Amino acid sequence: MPLVALDPILPAAQTGGYAVGAFNMVDYASTLAIVRAAEQLRAPVIVQTSVKTVRFWGCAAIASWLREIAGPSPVPVVLHLDHCKDLAVIEQCIAAGWTSVMFDGSAKPFEENLALTRRAAEMAARAGVSLEAELGEIGGVEDDKSVADEDAHLADPEKAVLFCQNVRLSAFAPAIGTAHGIYKGEPKLAFDRLEEIARRTGVPIALHGGTGLSDDVFRKCIALGCAKVNISTQIKYAFIEGFVDYHLAHKEYEPLKPLEAQIERIRREVAEKIELFGSAGRAA
Ligand code: 13P
Repeated sequence: MPLVALDPILPAAQTGGYAVGAFNMVDYASTLAIVRAAEQLRAPVIVQTSVKTVRFWGCAAIASWLREIAGPSPVPVVLHLDHCKDLAVIEQCIAAGWTSVMFDGSAKPFEENLALTRRAAEMAARAGVSLEAELGEIGGVEDDKSVADEDAHLADPEKAVLFCQNVRLSAFAPAIGTAHGIYKGEPKLAFDRLEEIARRTGVPIALHGGTGLSDDVFRKCIALGCAKVNISTQIKYAFIEGFVDYHLAHKEYEPLKPLEAQIERIRREVAEKIELFGSAGRAA
């Protein structure tokens, strides 16, 4: 089916008490693996692109892969732009066929973040695509952005309510203590804050920094209102290790063999997450 926006699938997840996995693709093969996992489990799925990946391949190539892979697929697939600080890149991606974008103004003061997010919302609304935005600052490294632990700060519930009242969002990413990349210690999540923000804003919450969270933490976050769960670092590891492990084990120089192993590794790990998030069988 044609690529879809977040709006038909996240409100359904919010009411159904499950979450839709949002997996960062690297290339054609990883995109194929992500969509295959979703098809096998009849799950809706979000394929996300970092700005770095968009710059590496170009918008047109990525959009054409997604159309080619998602077009004949029976499951709803969203093409989403992850953490973008640049309105010009948002515009390019929307023009190329992305069905969802995230504007990330979280490093800016509240008023400026809101004003820029509202501009992104106008662009998204004009094109009929969905918008995600961030408040507070999520720690760790994502794309070209690095937020040191001491600079990460949680979203304030009062400001979160004000933010969501003033801009139409399909997904809201308040910082609640998760971090991008590999956790150095036990992550300390502010579950009470997540519960309050999800309840008072009513907007489906996007959980960032999914790699390394325990199954119990995922279940708790989803029960409290997270309808979109982001996984990136785990895909990067599966991408590299899936290929390299096969090569080391078989000393194989036919690239299609390790490539097949890489696709299978990513497919399996994405499928495990889809099952855990409860979105299997929810494609309809
Ligand atoms: P991880 O890299 O920790 O999985 O986080 C992904 C993410 O939140 C992308 O925005």
